[in-house]
Amino acid sequence: MKGEPELFNEIDLDKYESLKEAPENEPERQYYYMAKCRELIGLIEKKKGRKLTVYNLVVGCQMNAKDSEKIQGILTQIGFEKTDAEETADMVIYNTCTVRENANLKVYGRLGYLNSLKRERPDMLIAMCGCMMQEKHVVDTIKEKYRFVDIVFGTYNIYKTAELLYLRLTGGNMVIDIWNENKGIVEELPAVREYPFKSGVNIMYGCNNFCTYCIVPYVRGREKSRTSADIIDEIKKLVKDGVREVMLLGQNVNSYGKGLEEDITFAKLLYMVNDIEGLERIRFMTSHPKDLSDDLIYAIRDCKKVCRHFHLPLQSGSDTVLKRMNRHYDQERYLGLVKKLRDTIPDIAITTDIIVGFPGETDEDFEETMKVVEEARFDGAFTFIYSKRTGTPAASYPDQVSADIVKKRFDRLLSRVQAIASERISAHQSKVMEAMVEGMDDHLEGYVTGRLSNNVMVHFPGDGSLIGKIVPVMLKESKGFYYIGEMV
Ligand code: 5AD
Ligand code: SF4
Repeated sequence: MKGEPELFNEIDLDKYESLKEAPENEPERQYYYMAKCRELIGLIEKKKGRKLTVYNLVVGCQMNAKDSEKIQGILTQIGFEKTDAEETADMVIYNTCTVRENANLKVYGRLGYLNSLKRERPDMLIAMCGCMMQEKHVVDTIKEKYRFVDIVFGTYNIYKTAELLYLRLTGGNMVIDIWNENKGIVEELPAVREYPFKSGVNIMYGCNNFCTYCIVPYVRGREKSRTSADIIDEIKKLVKDGVREVMLLGQNVNSYGKGLEEDITFAKLLYMVNDIEGLERIRFMTSHPKDLSDDLIYAIRDCKKVCRHFHLPLQSGSDTVLKRMNRHYDQERYLGLVKKLRDTIPDIAITTDIIVGFPGETDEDFEETMKVVEEARFDGAFTFIYSKRTGTPAASYPDQVSADIVKKRFDRLLSRVQAIASERISAHQSKVMEAMVEGMDDHLEGYVTGRLSNNVMVHFPGDGSLIGKIVPVMLKESKGFYYIGEMV
């Protein structure tokens, strides 16, 4: 339990009901289609004698999670009720990820399952969206082998969910709408916020970095920053709606502001967000080491609301591998940044992403990664086995590393990063820290789960009335990656 999800930015659809034609302008055009869908869904509701339900599955990163909140907002306004029961849902929508191959394979597996559901209930609706749909070979496969899918759309047009649903409900054929670029961002849409007290806020879309292993620039397009006025406006609205913590979202937040007419950087934006009254915590995701400025480090130090957690993806510790990854920094620069962050903000937790088995990675290269792990002493690390993504430069690099070597390196890396993280986290034992209570504990009866500023979780006795509050907690017992505590 994490508090009831709420409909944010609800749109008054009544005045769009009587319109004869869809307006050309966004977002009014979508309000019109939401009103039209609401009418159609209302008729089906009457026939069935109950509300229609939607099962909304999201995988992947925070961006996808945010997109799915917008999709759910639209579907809620149309009249769908959210359900966890996929097997009986009237509509199933999957927001997909394609960063690594196994995510794709899982989707095909689930499509097989959906096919069996739809054979029994032919009027159920199936929609697929997100990053995986931006790949041509995926859409071709769906067209060929999964003809029962009703709606396919990508990452740039999620705001059109209502229009595409309307097309499907009135047309009868599979509706496919995939764009190849970001044609403009439509923001003024409803959203069902997963947590009443915290929210992601997009500050920019896309990525210009083209790391050679990564598919993101191909499926999420070029970097585009939102104006600071739009961002501040949205956060103020969220705060009015009960939000105490925001996560500023972008693939590469450190290059925020490039291409905007205003004179702004991510550091300046942090100071502005920090000034918003009523807001208590600020997080952000993700930073690229090549663009991490001293100004940003000082901004984090100076802005008391900015959480003491920095996620700084390393990817590899080897200079040759970093070069072939097109990362634009070397080991020395990376370790220099870690030192500067820790010297300037002593209580900061630093976490990272590491890829093992990039094409051509030798034993010596891997030892360089292990060396950085020992020196940087991360508070946490996501470790990934390199996954070949069709269309990225690295997919055609020679010397793909054999699976058994990768597995050995991966296991060694994982056990070291886990041991170090556990040591670092345990060092806080017996301290009192502030925790934002995020929900009831799933495992321990009568306990709540809270998040510390440094992103470590703590479980302590408490009840539902604490959800969304920030309370002081004594960290009694370290369990390696989390704490058992007690409110003081
Ligand atoms: N293979 C393995 N890991 C990848 N990542 C991105 N692309 C790949 C890939 N092809 C990892 C990076 C990134 C994180 C979000 O996913 O470490 O920081
Ligand atoms: Fe991918 Fe690199 Fe962009 Fe991150 S910065 S999304 S790893 S291309």
